[in-house]
Amino acid sequence: MSISVGDKVVIDIEKIVYGGEGLGFVNDFAVFVPMTVPGDKVEIEIISKKKTYARGIITKLLEAGAERIEDTSKISFEDFHGCDFGMLNYESQLKYKTELVKDVMEKIGGVKDVLVSDIVGAEEEDTHNYRNKVIEPFALDKNKKIITGMFKRKSHEVFEVKENMLSSHLANKVINIVKTMLNKSKISVYKEKEHRGLLRHIMVRTNSKNEAMLVLVLNAKKVFRDIEEFLKNVYDSIDEVKSVYVSLNNEITNVALGKENIHLFGDKYLKETINGINFNISPNSFFQINVNQTKKLYDIGISFFDDINDKYIVDAFSGTGTIGMILSKNAKKVYSIEIIKEAVKDGIRTARENGIENIEFITGDVNKELLNLIEKGKRVDAVIFDPPRKGIEGDSLIKLAKHKINEIVYISCNPSTFARDSKILIEEGYKLEKIQPVDMFPQTNHIEVVGKFYLIK
Ligand SMILES: C[S@@+](CC[C@H](N)C(=O)[O-])C[C@H]1O[C@@H](n2cnc3c(N)ncnc32)[C@H](O)[C@@H]1O
Repeated sequence: MSISVGDKVVIDIEKIVYGGEGLGFVNDFAVFVPMTVPGDKVEIEIISKKKTYARGIITKLLEAGAERIEDTSKISFEDFHGCDFGMLNYESQLKYKTELVKDVMEKIGGVKDVLVSDIVGAEEEDTHNYRNKVIEPFALDKNKKIITGMFKRKSHEVFEVKENMLSSHLANKVINIVKTMLNKSKISVYKEKEHRGLLRHIMVRTNSKNEAMLVLVLNAKKVFRDIEEFLKNVYDSIDEVKSVYVSLNNEITNVALGKENIHLFGDKYLKETINGINFNISPNSFFQINVNQTKKLYDIGISFFDDINDKYIVDAFSGTGTIGMILSKNAKKVYSIEIIKEAVKDGIRTARENGIENIEFITGDVNKELLNLIEKGKRVDAVIFDPPRKGIEGDSLIKLAKHKINEIVYISCNPSTFARDSKILIEEGYKLEKIQPVDMFPQTNHIEVVGKFYLIK
C-alpha cells in the first residue's frame, strides 16, 4: 500500500530525529510526525509527501509512549503553545538533546571521538515561563475581538493562548492587560493581505526584578496622539511596566520590529544583572532569553579557556557585550564585535556604568572585522564566538585559522551549523576537545552547545 496526502493511517513511532519530529514507517516508507515520542501508536493524517518520506499530523493518540507527559489529552502543536517538545517529559527531553548533538556531530561534523557531555538541564522552576522576550502578532478573532498569539504551523492564522507556558508570568500579564485595554479602544489591527491597519505586534521584555519593557509595533510612519495617550494609560496602569516604546514598521515583511523604535515613557533601557554586571537592553538588542540558564552557559564558555588572565580576547557576535564584559574582569583586553548598532550602544553604556575600561567595541561584521583587527597587528590570544543560527562564514574561518589563534570557544544555538563549522576548523588544524550542550530552551527541540577548540598544527 502506498500512501497519499489526505490518507489516515496508524503508525508506531520509533525514534526522535534531529529537528524534533518522531519517525515511524508505513510499509517501510518513512513518515515524520511532529509532537510524537518513541512508543506512541498514533492515527495520523498525511499532510505532505516527497519521494523518500512523508509527513503526517496526529489525529488520535491510540497508545502513549512511556516518555510522554502524563496528560495525554494534549496532542497538537497548539495544545503545547507551539512547544514542539512539550509532550516529552523533561528528563527525556534532556536525554534526546544530548543524543541529537552526538548524532549531528557525527553526521555533519564527521567527528566520532569528541567528548559530548550530558546536557546541563534547567532547574524545575526554569523549565516553563522562562522567556524574557515575547513577541506576538495581533489578529482579530471571528467575533472581531483583538487577540495576540502565535501562528499555526506553516500558516499565517493566529491562535491565542492566555497563559503561554514559555513566556514569563509578567509578559503574559502585560500582554493580557494590554489586549483588554485595546479591545476598549478604537485602534485597528494590521491586515497582512491588505497591508492596512495599525497594530502589528506586541513585544514585552522582562527581567529578574519583575520589570517590563513594552514595545507596540505599528504599521505607521509616526506615532499618532491616540496611540500615545493609549500607551500613557498602559504605563500608568501597570506598575511593572518601566519602559514604553513604539516601533514603526510599515514595510511588507516578516520581521517584527521596524527600523525606528521611538521611546515614549519611562526608562530607555531594561536592565538585567549577570555576574554582578548590570546590562542595558534596548528593544532591538539581542539578549539571551533564559537568564538562569544563560548564567550557566556563560560560566561554562568562560571556563573552557585555559587561562584568560592578561590575555587579549575577542568576543565575536557579542550582542550587548555580555560575555566580553564578564571576561574583562580577568583579561587584559577584550574586543567586542557586533553588527547591530543599538546593541553596541547598549554595551558601551553598560561598560561606562560598570566602570569597565579594558573593552573595545567594534560595530560591524565579524567575518570582516575580526580579520581586520588581526591584520592591523592587534594581539589576539583567543576568540569566543556566539553567532546566530546560520553560523560563521566558512571563508572567514579558513582565513582566521591561518593566524593560528591558540584557543577558540564556540557557543552555538544551532548544532548543525556548529558541526559544519567544526569540520572546517578541524581541517584547518584545530582539535575539538569537548562539547557541552546546555538546555537554554526547555519544551522546544532547540539545543545550545559550547565547544572548545585548540590549535594543534
Ligand atoms: C546569538 S547572539 C549572541 C550575543 C551575545 N553573545 C549574548 O550572549 O548575548 C548573536 C549576535 O550576533 C549578532 N550578529 C549577527 N550577524 C553578525 C555578523 N555578521 N557580525 C557581527 N555580529 C553579528 C546578532 O546581532 C546578535 O547580537
